[in-house]
Amino acid sequence: MKIDILTLFPEMFRGPFDMSMLKKAKDEGLVEINIHNLRDWTKDKHKTVDDRPYGGGKGMVIRVDIVHDAISNFQFPISNEKKKSKVILLSPQGKVFDQKKAQELFKLEHLILIAGHYEGFDERIREHLVDEEISIGDYVLTGGELPAMVLVDTVVRLLPGVLEPEAKEHESFSLTSNLKPPTSLLDFPTYTRPETFRGWKVPKILLSGNHAEIEKWRKGQALKRTKQKRPDLLKDKI
Ligand SMILES: C[S@@+](CC[C@H](N)C(=O)[O-])C[C@H]1O[C@@H](n2cnc3c(N)ncnc32)[C@H](O)[C@@H]1O
Repeated sequence: MKIDILTLFPEMFRGPFDMSMLKKAKDEGLVEINIHNLRDWTKDKHKTVDDRPYGGGKGMVIRVDIVHDAISNFQFPISNEKKKSKVILLSPQGKVFDQKKAQELFKLEHLILIAGHYEGFDERIREHLVDEEISIGDYVLTGGELPAMVLVDTVVRLLPGVLEPEAKEHESFSLTSNLKPPTSLLDFPTYTRPETFRGWKVPKILLSGNHAEIEKWRKGQALKRTKQKRPDLLKDKI
C-alpha cells in the first residue's frame, strides 16, 4: 500500500511513524508512506496556502487551487486503476472512523490523506477533490495530523504481514462469526504472571489447561463485557 499525506506540519509525523509496527511495516516494504508539505505547491514567495473567507468572518481557509495541484501530482497515474485509490479529507464533519472503515481501506492500493489546519477548507475541496471525508470523533482538534496518524496506524496494522494473523483474531470490533448474525464484540479479558497479586487472582479456568473450556469461557466473557460496556454493538443483533 502507498499512503501520501498532505499537511502543513510534516514534522509532526516524525516519531509516530518511525517506531513500532509502522516502522516495521515501512522497513519491510509493506507500506510506503510519503509526507508532503502543502506549501510545496504554493506559487508566491511567502508560500501562502490559505486566505480570508469570502463573506467575512474569523479564521483562514485552505485554498482549493493549492490542494488541487498537490493532489494532481500523485493522484492521477494511480487512481486510473479502477478506484484502488482514495482521496480522504480529515475533518470533524466527516463520517466517524471505525474498525469497519479501516477494514475497507486496507484493501486499497493508495490513500491520499489531506490534513487541514486553521478554520478549515474551501468547500470546493470537499465537493470536487475528495472521495471521502473522515472524522476521528465528535470533537475538534487543531489540525488533521493526529487524525491522519490514527487512520494510518489502524489501517497499516491490518495489512498482511504486519501482525501475526492470530493477533487480530479476537480483537475488539472485529467481526466474530460465532454469533448469528456475525457481530463485533469487545476482546475477552487477558491475564499474565503473577498468578496472585495482592490477593487478586487469575480466573482458575485459565490455569486449567483445558483449551476447549478456555475458549468457551473467553467467548462468554467477550459477549458479557460487550453487553456491559458497549451494548450498542449488539443492538438489534442478538
Ligand atoms: C480547527 S479544525 C477546523 C474545524 C472546522 N472549522 C469545523 O468546525 O468543522 C482544523 C482541521 O483539523 C482537522 N480536524 C479537527 N478535528 C478533527 C476530527 N475530529 N477528525 C478529523 N479531523 C479533524 C481537520 O483537518 C480540520 O480541517
